[in-house]
Amino acid sequence: MVDTQRIDGKAFAAKLLLEITEEVAGLKAAHGLQPGLAVVLVGEDPASQVYVRNKGRQTVAAGMQSFEHKLPADVSQADLLGLVAALNEDRAVHGILVQLPLPGHLDADAVIACIDPDKDVDGLHVVNAGRLAAGLPGLVPCTPLGCLLLLKDILPAMSGLEAVVVGRSNLVGRPIAQLLLQQNCTVTMAHSRTRNLAEVCRRADILVAAVGKVEMIKGDWIKPGATVIDVGINRIETAEGKSRLVGDVAFAEAQGIAGFITPVPGGVGPMTIACLLRNTVTAARRILNIAAPPQAGIS
Ligand code: GUN
Repeated sequence: MVDTQRIDGKAFAAKLLLEITEEVAGLKAAHGLQPGLAVVLVGEDPASQVYVRNKGRQTVAAGMQSFEHKLPADVSQADLLGLVAALNEDRAVHGILVQLPLPGHLDADAVIACIDPDKDVDGLHVVNAGRLAAGLPGLVPCTPLGCLLLLKDILPAMSGLEAVVVGRSNLVGRPIAQLLLQQNCTVTMAHSRTRNLAEVCRRADILVAAVGKVEMIKGDWIKPGATVIDVGINRIETAEGKSRLVGDVAFAEAQGIAGFITPVPGGVGPMTIACLLRNTVTAARRILNIAAPPQAGIS
């Protein structure tokens, strides 16, 4: 029986936000630079409104400038592209994030393609995906970056470990696999068509679940002592008619088997906004050619 440790993403993110706040104060004092993040929200989706409000609050709390652009749900593709083009040219804006998903009549790929790759703090532009795949410096998607920071804290020596990533989205699965490869893990990407998924998962020293399916990864799919990162955020109805967040991993079943596991909520989730702010600072430094402090690590 393994003594399973919970990974406290909330505490880690709070520490990271404190470091970012200090770094921002330092940039202001030494270079007169205040990093700025522009967030574009199209329409009235309630979950997106909550995310955008939180992003704005935390951006300001860290001492950065927050620019919020709210556009009506029926905005045209041309008007949205026009706003992105203006933000690309705005010298006070170092990071641009267009909240996804966009209403159905808009082409999200075309919008992301229009963002200046050096301001693409979501790391979704194909130039940044290409840089990541080629091992070049770029902007890395926030959730994968958050997962990597948590993993590096727990497993300072990841080299040679077996990592299995379940899920192959551009937002999470693919970039996490690239980051783990950069850490010299032996990486397997598993997905909905993978045969013997349970067996593949049982090989993993590091198991990353990013599929968006309620508790799909069972306790007996986990190698005893493995580190489990659960990226899933799934809302379910409880018997009492309330709603609750659960991950892609059967958390209760993993107790006594996993060595370390991220809970949902309170695991990977809080790291995403912290990494968005970190990416904004990274983008501001690069645009102004200001070297990062040595402890800044992966970007
Ligand atoms: N919607 C949900 N997650 C994300 C994210 O990481 N970036 C953007 N732009 N939209 C999202």
